[in-house]
Amino acid sequence: MSQISEKVDVELDVATRLMYPRPVVLITCIDSSGKPNIIPVAWTMPTSFDPPLVAISIALKRYSHKLITETREFVINIPTKELVKKIDYLGSVSGMDVEKFDKSGLTALPAKRVKPPLIGECIAHIECELVSKLETGDHTIFVGKVVAAQSDKNIFATDYNLNKVRLILRHKKRYLTLGEYI
Ligand SMILES: Cc1cc2nc3c(=O)[nH]c(=O)nc-3n(C[C@H](O)[C@H](O)[C@H](O)COP(=O)(O)O)c2cc1C
Repeated sequence: MSQISEKVDVELDVATRLMYPRPVVLITCIDSSGKPNIIPVAWTMPTSFDPPLVAISIALKRYSHKLITETREFVINIPTKELVKKIDYLGSVSGMDVEKFDKSGLTALPAKRVKPPLIGECIAHIECELVSKLETGDHTIFVGKVVAAQSDKNIFATDYNLNKVRLILRHKKRYLTLGEYI
């Protein structure tokens, strides 16, 4: 039986941490010359079935913020446990300073409908065209219309087979994977 627990106030500047752990994705985007970048993102959500829309929230100061604003396309790549070290690296450097595909050793593959590349080592890809954006404090929510999507056929048909795949969540600057169904 669930119980009503006693609560204490949480400082407002850490209140968003009440919404962790969160799934991590790798967003690919490009600059106006076509040079790609990768940014790990934990602040994401689906936001419409019809049309299919997804939202990602990116800080104003990120290089990727400038790229998505300028070129208006991005890909959501779904990583697994095996990529955890690369994710941590990709989130510690800026595409302003380093070529993240070269430095991480990840493979850029052509997307079907958008110019930013897919990350070959990820298990799924959601290609998006920017349809709207909303400034929210120090972040912008970018809303993307899904124009193509692909997945590893052994892992996802209409839902992930969680016996075969270990998705990644972020918590306290560390990472974990999912446990069992309840
Ligand atoms: C697991 C993880 C999740 C992150 N989530 C977000 C996020 O949701 N939004 C954001 O703006 N930055 C997020 N960051 C920080 C950016 O990934 C990081 O600042 C990155 O170096 C920015 O790259 P860029 O300057 O090339 O765009 C996250 C970092 C990590 C490691």
